[in-house]
Amino acid sequence: MDYVISPAARISGTVEMPGDKSISHRALMIAAIAEGESHIEKLSDGADVACTIACLEKLGVKIVREGSTATVHGVGMTGLKPPARVLDVGNSGTTIRLLSGILAGQSFHTQITGDESIRARPMARIVEPLRQMGAEVMAVKNEYPPLSITGGGLRSIYYEMPVASAQVKSCLLLAGLYAHGRTEVVEPARTRDHTELMLVKFGANVQKVEAHITVDGPAHLTAQEVLVPGDLSSAACFIAAASLLPDSDILIKNVGINPTRKAFLSLLADFGADLDIMNVRTQGGELTADLFVSSSNLAGMTIEGSIVPQIIDEIPILAVMASQAEGRTEIRDAVELRHKESDRLRSLAFNLKRMGVEVTEKQDGLIIDGPAKLQSAEIESFNDHRIAMSFAVAGLLAADQSRIKNADCVAISHPGFFQGLEDRVVPPAQAEA
Ligand code: S3P
Repeated sequence: MDYVISPAARISGTVEMPGDKSISHRALMIAAIAEGESHIEKLSDGADVACTIACLEKLGVKIVREGSTATVHGVGMTGLKPPARVLDVGNSGTTIRLLSGILAGQSFHTQITGDESIRARPMARIVEPLRQMGAEVMAVKNEYPPLSITGGGLRSIYYEMPVASAQVKSCLLLAGLYAHGRTEVVEPARTRDHTELMLVKFGANVQKVEAHITVDGPAHLTAQEVLVPGDLSSAACFIAAASLLPDSDILIKNVGINPTRKAFLSLLADFGADLDIMNVRTQGGELTADLFVSSSNLAGMTIEGSIVPQIIDEIPILAVMASQAEGRTEIRDAVELRHKESDRLRSLAFNLKRMGVEVTEKQDGLIIDGPAKLQSAEIESFNDHRIAMSFAVAGLLAADQSRIKNADCVAISHPGFFQGLEDRVVPPAQAEA
């Protein structure tokens, strides 16, 4: 499905985001191997999380969904069953990498794969350390899915991760639950710590000292009640729309602002955005707040170094914001963006150029000169939800209607995204009246 986005005069109102995608995956997987019945409230309604549910069901876990609540009938650490068929993660990198950690702890054989994008994403980063732990893992060219995993009898390892990746860290911590002894993972830069928080909540012994994270195995996990905060990565698009459109303001309620995720909000302050973080509280072990954002004039900036892994999913929308900022924005050290649902550096440069923005694609980043007067354009989503959502925001600022191709990919993380936006934007004619 293509989506036609019309220019908007402004945006205003109150909005809630779907449950955080990263936290939803972790809550489901960890509840699945815990003892007892867990209830997860405000679970993400995205297609990626539905894939995690389908895979866990194929592994013999009963999951009952009622609205945005899921009840997971945990089978305990050793209760998963060999699946009758290949596990299909769809488009979800988090599902394949995290679930592989759990599968490495099972003595049965599993095959796991996904769509075309998944089959082109790098897996050596988990295959290597899982083999060191003693799992038999096969991959196409030692790199690509399908992965074939026969696990069990794992040993704990000390592992210095070559890439800063929360997915790799989480995979190894989950495998570490099954290993004998203390598994230690060292991060080259800080990444989101939702797995660590969720594991502690379910009773695992996880410790963190600076960049070193340890988990003790074999672990015993107990069912919990989980309340998932709203997804900050989805909120980022509404924040951008309210910042960029004149006379706008938006209140986004119940957004997760975990310290390892909220660098995006600090960067916005540096960009010159007008943002209030209100009503900060801890909800289900995760820091949550309401965000109030108003229009502002942004100034170009440099984004580089250890902050990049913490804003990795917000860089697409930051690039759109940069096109409207006064001066030059440089994004560096972001080569990991080439390994996401699409090659995001390429997808961003391609679409920004189509909209008339001066942009240079570097091997590890982008240089964007703003502010640009955006032209309406045909946008290629490259089947990447974050590209489709970011350019929907760009489309609000364009001179005329833009068309986003294959826009239904937004359902990966935020099925109600377009409706949520449409309900809150004011078209130019209405604004004049
Ligand atoms: C995620 C981690 C990030 C992020 C992805 C979700 C997670 O990937 O891009 O959308 O839930 O752990 P990497 O950790 O591989 O960078």
